[in-house]
Amino acid sequence: MLKAGKPKVERINLTQKQNFLFNFDLKPVELENYLDEYLIGQKEAKGIIATKICTHFHKAKNLLLKSHRLDNVGFIKNNIIIIGPTGVGKTYTLKLIAHKLGVPFAKGDATKYSETGYVGGDVEDLIRDLYYEADGDLEKARFGIVYLDEIDKIASPGDIIGPDVSRTGVQRALLKLLEETQVEIRTPQEGLQMLEFPEENRNKKGKTTLNTKYILFVVSGAFQGLEEIIKKRLKKQSLGFLSEIEKKEEQKINYLKFVTPEDLVNYGFEREFVGRFPVIAVFDPLTEEELFEILANPNNVIVLNKKRDFKVYGIDLAFTDSAFREIAKEALKEGTGARALARILERILIPFERTLPSYQINILGVTEELVKDPEGYLRAMLSNPESQKWDEAYREAIFAERDRIHLYLEKKKTQNQKLPLEITPKRLNLLFDIYKSEEVEVTHALEELSSIYRQVKAYEGSFSKRNQIQAIFTDEAIDYVMEEVLKRDQGVFTFCERALARLEYTFSFLKETTKRNRFYITKMAFLDQDKFLEELLKS
Ligand SMILES: Nc1ncnc2c1ncn2[C@@H]1O[C@H](COP(=O)(O)OP(=O)(O)OP(=O)(O)O)[C@@H](O)[C@H]1O
Ligand SMILES: [Mg+2]
Repeated sequence: MLKAGKPKVERINLTQKQNFLFNFDLKPVELENYLDEYLIGQKEAKGIIATKICTHFHKAKNLLLKSHRLDNVGFIKNNIIIIGPTGVGKTYTLKLIAHKLGVPFAKGDATKYSETGYVGGDVEDLIRDLYYEADGDLEKARFGIVYLDEIDKIASPGDIIGPDVSRTGVQRALLKLLEETQVEIRTPQEGLQMLEFPEENRNKKGKTTLNTKYILFVVSGAFQGLEEIIKKRLKKQSLGFLSEIEKKEEQKINYLKFVTPEDLVNYGFEREFVGRFPVIAVFDPLTEEELFEILANPNNVIVLNKKRDFKVYGIDLAFTDSAFREIAKEALKEGTGARALARILERILIPFERTLPSYQINILGVTEELVKDPEGYLRAMLSNPESQKWDEAYREAIFAERDRIHLYLEKKKTQNQKLPLEITPKRLNLLFDIYKSEEVEVTHALEELSSIYRQVKAYEGSFSKRNQIQAIFTDEAIDYVMEEVLKRDQGVFTFCERALARLEYTFSFLKETTKRNRFYITKMAFLDQDKFLEELLKS
């Protein structure tokens, strides 16, 4: 008679501090909102991926919290297959997520591996990479994300003559990792660390190992030819259905959205392999409008990087909307998604980057005219540097940038996302100043501004407490403090302390004599204290 074995129980040694999982409290929509800050389009795929990854980590957390150990039963991973053309945000999405969650992230390329593990590389190296990405923290590494690109290249289509051992071989080697296996880690000080790591992280030979059971796998590829397989199936399934959608949407329909696991098997994947990926997300090609939006997003690093390049020479770079539209138009023709954007920006701007530093030019407004004929524009600039035209172009571009920041904030509001502080026109200016002077993503600039705001509010609180009054800083006063602090690059505390010290005596005097204890601190309190006190005593 067969006896059901007791489920193996794995002990896990985690301390609150050690593992991000204990504090993991992100909701799918929050993660999606975070992605929205950076990633344009891909709404459907973004939603699926954010949700399944959130669920994955919540599940892992619950297992940990419930029993402080991980059961061997009942943990099915939400491994993900991503299908989509080049340069549309597949890798970017996962990088953003790993960054937001603070989990280690290792990226590999499936074409590199061969079945034997000797020719190209060993699939297990992926897991070792994760260990290094986690700075040698085994407990962190076991909850990492492994991203494997070009997975379509290890599909073994039936029309290959003879058995395609190496591709299916890699699939099988990966199967082991996807499921559960102990990967031997070659730690730098193997031997020394034996004492450090507890038993379960060592195999029989006493070597340090990393268990892959909780590692999330995401694989991606362009899957050329898959669309045909899907179309063929749809045709066979129902003749009417296909011609109907074709009629309705003409050419624009993305058939990949109808993909089923069966299609992937027909494409050349082993059934077991496909079975380990319960989630499929399809990325769309980027439209011209989306390429424009990527450039116009004040969080975009492609544009930011270009600005930083020019900043090196003290040149401030700004772009008009029509310049971005022109670049987007060109990028669409290349057919490499957003990858084309960086290349085109380089091509257009390198002549300027090369030449302008030798001249007394410290601003450059990138306009449609410049994008269409960079060389001609540069020649004109150098032959007539005094012309007002260049200043005007720059001014137009600066206004456009400011509008984009405004638009970004408005969009957040319409999406019901709470801003960390209310943005008045004055604060918009401050935000823009930070964004421009530090060349950071607008989210960072916003964080910086709101951090200063919080400090002012904290000072308001401590000032009140210390003087046993209720001091209320008016909005105008708060804005004034934020502006001065930014201008002087000074701490909030230092600045307020210096400005308000003289007032303390008056407040305590007033409190004693009038029994009043609520005081508004206006901008005047900082600018002209005599006048402020005079008005205070009068009131
Ligand atoms: N939808 C998008 N929104 C914003 N930026 C994007 C988007 N797609 C791509 N980018 C930008 O283009 C760069 C390249 O994109 P990514 O690495 O994600 O391409 P990919 O889809 O993984 O392509 P490949 O199949 O060639 O690996 C990203 O680093 C990002 O800056
Ligand atoms: Mg990629």
